[in-house]
Amino acid sequence: MDSDLHMRPGLGTRFVHGGDEHDPHTGAVSTPIYQVSTFAFRSAEHGAACFAGEEEGYIYSRLANPTVEIFEGKMAYLEGTDDALAFASGMAAIHNLICHVAHGGHVVSGDTVYGGTFALFDHLIPRLGIEVSFVDTTDTVNIERAIRGDTKLIFVETPANPTLAITDLAATAELAHAHKILLVVDNTFSTPYLQRPIEHGADVALHSCTKYVGGHGDAVSGVYCGSQELIDESREWRTDIGGVIAPLQSWLLLRGLKTLHLRVERSQANAVALAHFLLRHPKVEMVRYPGLESHPQYEIGKKQMLGPGGILSFDVVGGARAGAKLINSVKLMTIAVSLGDCATLIEHPASMTHSTMSPEELTRYGITPGLVRIAAGIEDADDLLEDIERALALM
Ligand SMILES: Cc1ncc(COP(=O)(O)O)c(C=O)c1O
Repeated sequence: MDSDLHMRPGLGTRFVHGGDEHDPHTGAVSTPIYQVSTFAFRSAEHGAACFAGEEEGYIYSRLANPTVEIFEGKMAYLEGTDDALAFASGMAAIHNLICHVAHGGHVVSGDTVYGGTFALFDHLIPRLGIEVSFVDTTDTVNIERAIRGDTKLIFVETPANPTLAITDLAATAELAHAHKILLVVDNTFSTPYLQRPIEHGADVALHSCTKYVGGHGDAVSGVYCGSQELIDESREWRTDIGGVIAPLQSWLLLRGLKTLHLRVERSQANAVALAHFLLRHPKVEMVRYPGLESHPQYEIGKKQMLGPGGILSFDVVGGARAGAKLINSVKLMTIAVSLGDCATLIEHPASMTHSTMSPEELTRYGITPGLVRIAAGIEDADDLLEDIERALALM
């Protein structure tokens, strides 16, 4: 990217050009895939110097790889951080961050998070001596009450999966910093196109890149972006624990990023159309979507997000059975978990993405038995509306 563009490019330009350069060796416009596990040293002395950190040079792709580094640099640029670190999955990114920042301590987590994150925090991490308190982070009073002397970080998903609840980032960041702890934001739903948590005071922006960053349903991966000090320490943990992203995945994500702004705009336009249609439908009980004025945190969403995004959830009259019938009746939408794909995906959180929660936990955290989640793709809105209208007519 021309250095002048670093001044103040528009958002779309940032996604196309920002943070990655044409290959300096060949001028290749698309980033080369360094599909390599190990790198040759010029001599025994050169190898020893690389290991000792006295000379710069690639050693082995679990430690560093050029394609991976370019992807990490682009994510850091887009989120506005010093650096970023990429992983084989979103869960590997969360695991790395929690182990390294919160070991021997305590985490305050939003009570509505992706089911895999909940399982990690509730079932596994406590076995490593890390305690997690789940609170409703839509009210900062709850967060403040949960903070202890050994709290190391606050973890929030906003908008949250699958209830779309929104946490006030600026207020939460202020609270975190008053207690000298980190605020980590899972920004998967919004992407750095619609929300940049660092601009609101957060310390870390994290993504399941499996979703909008990749955008085509073909790459499982994760990343988090933060200060140089944090990422340098995290790299040490990733080197020794593993879970590193592959070069090919990094390349798929770099390709995905170039069209992210267009895909997110279209996905969002489809979600807006679906949300307004469902809101008026007699067989739908409640629509949860940050773009609706009825959303409990509508104003906070408007303050910190460029737009409400492409995901919505709703309750069908008749509960779980009715929800299953609806999901079985759509024809264009695909019954699948995940989100941020080109295709519209429909799922039932209680029995799928959030099945790691007990029935009591699901009720406590507002994941009702009949809740259906739609992750809008980039098809034509009229076709999606026709699909859902026809499916609802069968109920
Ligand atoms: C909000 C959110 N964060 C993290 C994850 C985990 O990411 P991955 O599936 O890439 O491990 C998911 C997965 O659905 C998610 O929805």
